[in-house]
Amino acid sequence: MTIAICPGSFDPVTNGHLDIIQRAAVIFDELIIAVGNNPGKKPLFTVEERIELLEKAIAEIQLTNVRVDHFSGLQVEYARANQARVIVKGLRALSDFEYEFQMALTNKKLAPEIETMFMMTATEYSFLSSSLVKEIVYFGGEPVDLVPTVVLDALHKKMGSRGKKDEEKPFINPS
Ligand code: PNS
Repeated sequence: MTIAICPGSFDPVTNGHLDIIQRAAVIFDELIIAVGNNPGKKPLFTVEERIELLEKAIAEIQLTNVRVDHFSGLQVEYARANQARVIVKGLRALSDFEYEFQMALTNKKLAPEIETMFMMTATEYSFLSSSLVKEIVYFGGEPVDLVPTVVLDALHKKMGSRGKKDEEKPFINPS
């Protein structure tokens, strides 16, 4: 039985994430979506909110071998504690590569028994990021087909983008 973890901030989950999750769920016996906090980012949603959104989105696409959890230490320690041998990451354009390469090599150094596997993003989501989605909603746009409806509703609720002035909206991370 091969268990994989898919770590990330998921602030919030996008259709790009869900595409990777859906494809990875076919390959591994169990897939754990591990929500973590990136120390370099100030999240818009709390960990609990991000988990809830992921769970709702995953339930909608009926993936039975996927569960959502959170972690606070190193991702390799979380993988070990859950008997996961693989870390799955989605890879978008070239811009992702350097960061992900560095992270994968660091993780290999820390835990040689764990493999990082990259899955290429689907073409239609190759430009997509959680930050971009937040920015669209912040400025009053609708990220149609980029996030599940449950996420879109949560974004509007959180940002009050329907009717609030920019200065009344929460800070969104530029990264
Ligand atoms: O979606 P993100 O923002 O790229 O996710 C980053 C996250 C939370 C997965 C990453 O920052 C993380 O795993 N942090 C925990 C510390 C860790 O294990 N870092 C990697 C090796 S130093």
